Amino acid sequence: MWHPKHKQVVELFQEHPDDPDLQAAVVEVDKREKWAVSSYRPYPIQETVHKSDKSIVFFFGGNRVGKTQMGAAEMVWYLLGDHPFKEIKPPISAWACCLSTDVQMEASQPKIMALLPQEEIRKIYYLRNGIIQRIELKNGSNLTFKSYEQGAEKFQSAGKDIIWFDEEPPQDIFKESIIRREAGKDLKVICTMTPVNGLTWTYYDVFRNPAKNTEWYLASWNDNIYLTEEQKEEMRSQYSEDELVYREKGGFIHLSGQVYKSFDPSKHIIEDYNVEPDDEIYRSMDFGATREHPFACAWVALRPNGQYVVFQEEVIYGSIGFEQLIGRVSELSEGFIVRSSYGDPARPDWIDEFNRAGVYMVKPQKDVPLGISKVQQVLDDRTPQGEPRLVFTKNCPIAIEEMINYRWDKKLTAQGQQRPLKKNDHVIDAIRYLLYTISQPLQYDDYEEVNQRYDPYTGIIL
Ligand SMILES: Nc1ncnc2c1ncn2[C@@H]1O[C@H](COP(=O)(O)OP(=O)(O)OP(=O)(O)O)[C@@H](O)[C@H]1O
Ligand SMILES: [Mg+2]
Repeated sequence: MWHPKHKQVVELFQEHPDDPDLQAAVVEVDKREKWAVSSYRPYPIQETVHKSDKSIVFFFGGNRVGKTQMGAAEMVWYLLGDHPFKEIKPPISAWACCLSTDVQMEASQPKIMALLPQEEIRKIYYLRNGIIQRIELKNGSNLTFKSYEQGAEKFQSAGKDIIWFDEEPPQDIFKESIIRREAGKDLKVICTMTPVNGLTWTYYDVFRNPAKNTEWYLASWNDNIYLTEEQKEEMRSQYSEDELVYREKGGFIHLSGQVYKSFDPSKHIIEDYNVEPDDEIYRSMDFGATREHPFACAWVALRPNGQYVVFQEEVIYGSIGFEQLIGRVSELSEGFIVRSSYGDPARPDWIDEFNRAGVYMVKPQKDVPLGISKVQQVLDDRTPQGEPRLVFTKNCPIAIEEMINYRWDKKLTAQGQQRPLKKNDHVIDAIRYLLYTISQPLQYDDYEEVNQRYDPYTGIIL
């Protein structure tokens, strides 16, 4: 038993075994000691973060240093009112926020569920397929899962006691979350993150210039006492020197070079693809009519196993007039049932023109950093059969060439803004809009409650 408060109760009870209050307290401690969260023992840097009395704490760290584990434990202690270092009185209203529902399923949700005692749960509400929307505890505490893909307007946090961001949130989401603190109520905010996006607002506004109520800690692989030397060596071999600055040490770097570093021609290019009847076909366009800014269109098949196949592209350098352009897109779309079509959100006039001609399309979501991070995530991901989630056929050489040559803008980075160079980005911009938009979750208000259909621990349908 290491939990300082539990220990104290047991020691007092040993001194005063006849005290009825202590007898009851020791029974409660016995129960709590059986909870999985009691067997989580933070290592020194995690303990320091758990002890922080600032209202906003950033835990920057390399990969695998135990950031998510620490955040999940802090959250569970708050919800249960069993924090070893603080007086927390449930009921607690909390948010656990992360990049996407996919990431939630892989990281924060299983870590929280592994620590949360099953007998303390009153009800679990699901979004779909085992993705938890909200958990209510018997003590009245509640936890809602949120994803950055919902956009800032869904982050109005009135009445929350604790908000945990696992991985860097967009700044507008962070601001929206902390601005509605209720008077007289403490709001705790923890952000556990690896600075994979380089010099963003967290570098300038938090790391270099933390506000009075904010502090940060930085952890590297050496802080995770459970990582063996062999594991560290193995991980080191996977990354470039630049990447190791943030992946091992949790440091901030000027992102430079290739944007889609994970793009690997031996993995992400396939010879050919024949569209199957079960595939969903999507089409997306980036508008332009000059040599530097051509018109670009990509056709993507979403296979039933979740794989995206970019199987056709068209790039037109120069102006050919709307009629011809629309004719060309229609001709290339013949034989496919296009499920959704997206047009460059910067040119609603072009979108109108296409719609008037019966080539229907809508405006996609256009957040650039989140879109890039979506493409990167899909590049790194695999289907259940182990194939890459995103592949390009040789029929799309311009998209392939752009994936390789798309670069960060060094000048802008030096000024503290991180943006890719607006070059080599035509077909892949269209692909970015598309992947980002179709991965948007439904609005939470639209979800139906599908209670007790999934095992909360495994996500398996019961
Ligand atoms: N205090 C601890 N006691 C035991 N194991 C721990 C502890 N903290 C972390 N771990 C283990 O270390 C591993 C890495 O932890 P975690 O997933 O929290 O790291 P992370 O920093 O969030 O990594 P990533 O960058 O991949 O998100 C996990 O297997 C986790 O269970
Ligand atoms: Mg993590």
